[in-house]
Amino acid sequence: MRVLGLESSCDETAAAIVDDGVVVLADVVASQHDVHAKYGGVVPELASRAHILNVVPVVQAALDRAGSTLDEIDGIAVTNAPGLVGALLVGLQTAKALAWVTGKPLVGVHHLEGHLSAVFLEPDPPPMPHLALIVSGGHTSLVRVNAHADVIELGATRDDAAGEAFDKGAKLLGLGYPGGVVIDKLASTGDPKAVKFPKAMTTAETGAEFSFSGLKTSLLHHVRKHGVPEGQGLADLCASYQAAIVEVLVRKTRRIARRERLEHVQVCGGVAANSGLRAALRAAGAEDGFKVYIPPPGRCTDNAAMIAAAGYHRLVRGERAGLDLDAVPSLPLPRQQA
Ligand code: KG4
Ligand code: ZN
Repeated sequence: MRVLGLESSCDETAAAIVDDGVVVLADVVASQHDVHAKYGGVVPELASRAHILNVVPVVQAALDRAGSTLDEIDGIAVTNAPGLVGALLVGLQTAKALAWVTGKPLVGVHHLEGHLSAVFLEPDPPPMPHLALIVSGGHTSLVRVNAHADVIELGATRDDAAGEAFDKGAKLLGLGYPGGVVIDKLASTGDPKAVKFPKAMTTAETGAEFSFSGLKTSLLHHVRKHGVPEGQGLADLCASYQAAIVEVLVRKTRRIARRERLEHVQVCGGVAANSGLRAALRAAGAEDGFKVYIPPPGRCTDNAAMIAAAGYHRLVRGERAGLDLDAVPSLPLPRQQA
């Protein structure tokens, strides 16, 4: 089954063509980082406008790269939730128009279900059930994955997402957007012990819940007191800030993997591209005896191959969306009952 995937929930316009949920024939991403960089974050209206300009060329590029025609597509999968509503609508309307003119089946995909599917495009995917740490610009959750499209959220952030902590921290330091990439790079030559930052909600009673807003405030206080350092000082500050985020994510993941008796752990979402997090989780897994699965960095950040992979499992089960499929800006994953 050949699936065309479309993704436009935030600031990446993406289209991909994937065979049987695993073979990626084309994976095209048009990033809008240049559009939003000077604002230090995504401006929703500018995102919608850039998606409108990019979406048709991106779909055409995906078809060209795959050497495929629309006739050879067996189904269309599109992110319809959650995300910026104006941004989501561009991909969604494009997918609906394509489904209507070609008569091909259409399915809507939850953006986080997409992130969870990225690792299944790799040669050695995790077995079911497994634990997933989802860390992106908008979400930070620990999730039990029972099967494709069958997940239970065990806990999530109460305030900022991990990616937001990176982005807001970088903005405060005048480093531009997206902040995660810049901090990751600077941190690689810094001393993670140089500055002490708080590590919130790490006790056992806090379960799988996270909080990152205090960390950002703490960085603000540090900068107010000492100013923004340059050179090695900046690298040390970035390394310390990144280490605080990574330590919380790793501690929680270890504890919940043990509690849920899950021996396979995947990490996905943009922050899973972070080199410090990748290394720390792999080390924790080796120590505790759980196996760690992380997509390559380019499949951690937003892309449409993951949406096509997730959509494939829905299409195979016979799921079909009508042309009344709507964009839903906020759609939490099913939660574990306390
Ligand atoms: O999954 P994603 O592309 O979009 C959302 O669904 O939000 O994640 C974007 C987030 C941004 O906050 C960005 O700063 C962060 O992922 N990110 C990183 C790295 N690359 C992207 N954070 C830390 N280290 C990185 N290398
Ligand atoms: Zn994402």
